[in-house]
Amino acid sequence: MNRYLKAINVALLAVVLIVGCQQKPAKKQNTANKQTTSSEKDNGFPLWGYDLQQTRHVPYNKITKDNVKDLGIVWQADLANWDKKIPNASEDFPVVKDGVMYVTTSMNRVFAIDASNGKKIWQWTPPKDVLDHLDHADLSLLEVVASRGVAVAEGNVFVLIADNRLAKLNAKDGKLIKMINLWDTIPGAKLENRYYETMAPMYYKGNVYVGSSGGDNGIRGFVMAYKASDLTPAWDGPFWTVPEKGEGWVKGKYTGGGAVWGEIAFDPDTDVMYFGTGNPAPDFFKKIRPGKNPYTDSVVALESKTGKLIWAKSEMDEEDEWDYDATSTPMILNATVNNKKQKIVVHGGKNGKWFAWDAKTGDTIYNGVPFVKIQHTSQPTDPNKPAMQWPGAEGGQNYAPETYDPKTNYVLIPGINKPSLEVAAKDENELEQKKGLFPGTSITLGPKGEDISGTITAIDVNTGKNAYQNKTKQPMRGGFTGTTTGLAFYGELDGTVNALDIKTGKVLWNMKSGGAQIMMAPAIYMDGGKQYVTFVTGTKVVTYGLGGNKSVTPSKDPGGADPEGSGKTDNANHGSHGNKEKDKKQPADMNAEVIYKKSCMSCHGGNLEGGAGPDLRHVGVSMSEEEILNQIINGGGRMPGGLVDKDQAEVLAKWLSQKK
Ligand code: HEC
Repeated sequence: MNRYLKAINVALLAVVLIVGCQQKPAKKQNTANKQTTSSEKDNGFPLWGYDLQQTRHVPYNKITKDNVKDLGIVWQADLANWDKKIPNASEDFPVVKDGVMYVTTSMNRVFAIDASNGKKIWQWTPPKDVLDHLDHADLSLLEVVASRGVAVAEGNVFVLIADNRLAKLNAKDGKLIKMINLWDTIPGAKLENRYYETMAPMYYKGNVYVGSSGGDNGIRGFVMAYKASDLTPAWDGPFWTVPEKGEGWVKGKYTGGGAVWGEIAFDPDTDVMYFGTGNPAPDFFKKIRPGKNPYTDSVVALESKTGKLIWAKSEMDEEDEWDYDATSTPMILNATVNNKKQKIVVHGGKNGKWFAWDAKTGDTIYNGVPFVKIQHTSQPTDPNKPAMQWPGAEGGQNYAPETYDPKTNYVLIPGINKPSLEVAAKDENELEQKKGLFPGTSITLGPKGEDISGTITAIDVNTGKNAYQNKTKQPMRGGFTGTTTGLAFYGELDGTVNALDIKTGKVLWNMKSGGAQIMMAPAIYMDGGKQYVTFVTGTKVVTYGLGGNKSVTPSKDPGGADPEGSGKTDNANHGSHGNKEKDKKQPADMNAEVIYKKSCMSCHGGNLEGGAGPDLRHVGVSMSEEEILNQIINGGGRMPGGLVDKDQAEVLAKWLSQKK
């Protein structure tokens, strides 16, 4: 699931802007008057990747290579001070429109925040019946899967709910206007069939476009368009990425995939939409699905008005048995290729390779430029002899977005240089036994001692060659946002935020965020003539500006509720650190085994023996209680953070650390 607007949209934008202004919260009216620019494009970060082409390249020039060192924290808000129940917002990509920032969290809370000072304007929580549905899902993690953001248009906020619904809120006050069940118009798209939602929906020319997650569980991938006005279908039916169950290569209960869980790019000149598709399922057990499994692991171009296929290109030369989704969001670029301007679509895959195609024809320009270590073999089936596969199941490039800098003609790719130890089911019986999440697929503990890192690769689009590659300490899970002054901003898993000189690759500024596990690319926007950069870490939203505070400890917390609670230490990102009221009575579910069964078993197995997650039977040998606690709270790799609250995490960490 990333990253220009054309004059063609000026008319449309003007309409949106007028509507937006009318619906603006009263307190922002002054800002609106101050801003005399004709287009919202000149101030906010109006959609997931800034522009429809998802380039994440903003035209703002107040922060430069010379003054970037003066950046500091201007405000931070801890969402947990507003709602103790939210697990995290780690994968949220904020949208900023008309001075208001919209942030989503796991469990699908939506927060509208004043982008100038971090004060809450409103908060939306899904209705109780929806939360109950999530809570009773047999796939326990579904209640806390990531939510990667919203679409804001026509005075409304559109958000996908984990249990496969699309909600439309009033941008002014956060009131629910309408919510639809996707399964009413997309046959079978239900939680009970292992579909779930994590992506940010996209708004384009009156429609809202959605895909879904669940490919690892053998769902049938799709994209669908709804009219923004009343959420009725805009297409005759969904575009399915793989055949129906029982048809073509889709044989058996757990076969399918091709989930469209990354965000979608739109070309406003041609109305063509481009997106990536996920892996085929079962992930590692390829025996029952020989061949290339179209259109999995592919970038697909459709007519956005009708959903009709234009072209689709697979990123795999061989059968995929490594979970190599093509999931990041494609960028549509007017770039220089072989010294000529060409409109191209570019994309990096979990397989560790980067591609470029002609936007119109799909003709290949660059066919898989490697950006991380690639070394893999056919999957073994003996659980005692797992194979070390590079890239591992995280990628390559995961959903973290690229950015394009028109001045240098460089694309920056966020890379994960990390293997995993993998084993496939031996046969269909075993597949049936291990039918939790990611059936037929095991990743075992470790590997330890391997050179695990991240990479920042600058590709010169003119030649398809590396201009440079930086190594980062940790895998790059967040991605980039670039500015017209030649800076690219990114966050890291250890909570550091950075600005890089796109031309040279030199890091010109960095500081801590007071959180950890930054797994999103920042929103960069203007407000009152000043330029801001916002990162989300755990439950905290941290905004940087020139002349801001160099210390991560805020002098005051605009959230108000608990000034001491946030930003104290690097581990404070869970937010609940600030909640000092200890539970008076321990609720029934403070028993480690009970919590484990509800929240961990689907991946780590009924007896800790492993499954989609590693074997934890002897985890206490290799990990300290603190390390385990950190893993549970923050997640890491394919494991989501915030599955349980902090108290429960402590109980689990203690219990697991004794497993030796
Ligand atoms: C969606 C599946 C999933 C769920 C649910 C899940 N985990 Fe994990 N877990 C994983 C994966 C995958 C890894 C390996 C992380 C990586 O890729 O580095 C992991 C790693 C871990 C580790 C570190 C082991 C190591 O050495 O890498 C611990 C400890 C852990 N999980 C505990 C838990 C606990 C406790 C819960 C329940 C609160 C839980 N997990 C829920 C998938 C899951």
